[in-house]
Amino acid sequence: MSTILITGGHSGLGLETSKQLASRGIDLILAGRDPARIEVVAKRLIEIYGIKAVALKMDISSLTSVRNSVAEIQDLIAKREIDDLQAIVCNAGASFMGGIKYSADGYELTFATNYLGHFLLVQLLLDYVAKNGRIVFVTSGTHDPETRDGKMVGKAGKADAVALAHLGKYNLKTISWGQRYSTSKLCMILLTYELDRRLKRSGKSISSIAFDPGSIPETGLIRSLPRQLQSFAKTSFARWITRMIGVTQGRLDFSSEALAKVVASVEFAGMSGKYLQSNEGVLQDTRSSKASYEEGSARKLWEDSSNLVGLHPSEVPASLRN
Ligand SMILES: NC(=O)c1ccc[n+]([C@@H]2O[C@H](COP(=O)([O-])OP(=O)(O)OC[C@H]3O[C@@H](n4cnc5c(N)ncnc54)[C@H](OP(=O)(O)O)[C@@H]3O)[C@@H](O)[C@H]2O)c1
Repeated sequence: MSTILITGGHSGLGLETSKQLASRGIDLILAGRDPARIEVVAKRLIEIYGIKAVALKMDISSLTSVRNSVAEIQDLIAKREIDDLQAIVCNAGASFMGGIKYSADGYELTFATNYLGHFLLVQLLLDYVAKNGRIVFVTSGTHDPETRDGKMVGKAGKADAVALAHLGKYNLKTISWGQRYSTSKLCMILLTYELDRRLKRSGKSISSIAFDPGSIPETGLIRSLPRQLQSFAKTSFARWITRMIGVTQGRLDFSSEALAKVVASVEFAGMSGKYLQSNEGVLQDTRSSKASYEEGSARKLWEDSSNLVGLHPSEVPASLRN
């Protein structure tokens, strides 16, 4: 049996993807902030699909919480209560409208949640990912300032980890909530490609793939918007407008099925280093933004991120050391 770890696998796109994976007989670790809520979902998945499902407390924005959760996963693997990971799905994400908020570590919360926590999670667990396994990063079309998605939410800025982590402090220029979200997603794509290059150089057969589900207003992602705007975004009129102006159109059923395939189907085994997007019921292998292919930026982002999370030399994955 294979096991897949999915952050935010108990709600929104993550929950639908968890159901898809469970229906294939795959065991799951559902990681999120509220163990009681996650436990309810895990129990349902066990009842319906007869899989193993573990509810794991993990606040992805907190480096201590990520480290503690990883220790629990390592323990479960050591005790053979779960198998090595077939995939890690970096799905948890959030946007925070309004003023800048900071994580428990003092880093800007959007960057800490969407990007930095997942960076640490992958570093600490890469050696527990099975041969031919996958790391899938759930990103967003908003990362690309040339597209309608990027223009509407807020154009992504420079993927400078140190500046992004400390936004609003030390006289650093601040950016809007939308730009913070788009830029965090750009960082995830740079990470996807950099991890792919490092894995290939080390001769490892693990894939690193970026996935954009397209715009899906039904999930909880827009919960920080004013209530009226949230309700409007869910109407078919709003859907029509966004389609007309060229926003990438996701759908909860199609995008979650697509994500489950990217994570677990054989046909996606050779897709490392790709950006896959769900749009109008089609899953396409497409180009991400120009900035996302800058290898120098990706290398610097990786090094700066290692410093920000305080990665100890012993925590660098053995699979990336040669
Ligand atoms: N919906 C869209 O239009 C859209 C478009 C492009 C990309 N995406 C991406 O798709 C992914 C899934 O989002 P969604 O649309 O399904 O939104 P969602 O319903 O809000 O789901 C987000 C998930 O992330 C979890 N999460 C948030 N902060 C967390 C934290 N600090 N620690 C652990 N878990 C945390 C949430 O858990 P709680 O239940 O505890 O809050 C929830 O399970 C995100 O990465 C999002 O950026 C969504």
